[in-house]
Amino acid sequence: MNFWNDPGGTLPISTSKCRRGHSLSFWLPIPSTSSRILILLLTLSHWQVSQLWFNRGDSSFWSPRHTLRVVYHNMSAAHSSVKLVVGCDHAAVPQKDELVVFLKAQGFQVLDKGVYTPDRVDYPDVAAAVCGAVVLSNKEEQAATTLGILLCGTGIGMSIAANKIEGVRAALVHDHFTAKMARMHNDANVLCLGARTTGIEVLKECALTFLSASFEGGRHGERVAKITALEQLPRVPHPTA
Ligand code: RB5
Repeated sequence: MNFWNDPGGTLPISTSKCRRGHSLSFWLPIPSTSSRILILLLTLSHWQVSQLWFNRGDSSFWSPRHTLRVVYHNMSAAHSSVKLVVGCDHAAVPQKDELVVFLKAQGFQVLDKGVYTPDRVDYPDVAAAVCGAVVLSNKEEQAATTLGILLCGTGIGMSIAANKIEGVRAALVHDHFTAKMARMHNDANVLCLGARTTGIEVLKECALTFLSASFEGGRHGERVAKITALEQLPRVPHPTA
């Protein structure tokens, strides 16, 4: 039986049972123009991010929970007060460039500290430039949080170098879970990624996840405070032979 041709009574909610003066839109959720635009935008953004899930062969992106997460991603990114400082060495220039374009399109303010060419550089120099900007910016800015993203071949060199800088908690991540935990449990403020170990779609997913998650605090706050306290310890003196 076609809903539109139902003479009355055979379908659970039929037009014949509508109260006088109520159009079909009273019964059916036909949206207003502004709602249609909003739904279109949300659907498009869902489609955009679902490509990430689809590309890595995970079909879970159709779930309502995932849709909500994607909507949250887009809304929080658009209204975000998070600033980003991004940098890479020569091994990760194309990936860094694509990530910068992607994150700007997501609504983030991005400061690209380079490098911009495949000429060889030393990753500790880039780590120092990016982390210095992150730490300084967080000292000066009251309202916004500044986070860093560093890429090199494996992400290892960048993470070792970044963690030498006072105030930096750098985390090398490879997937959605580690990216989320780095923020939720470790309050990492610099994300390190490997351009030779991780595909571009997963790099984007890691960055979005890192930027959308927030620190849980509580017992994790106490642990992070202990990490910060380690920075105050006197340096181990060199053995004098
Ligand atoms: C550069 O060849 C490479 O060593 C660097 O990008 C990084 O992987 C270091 O950890």
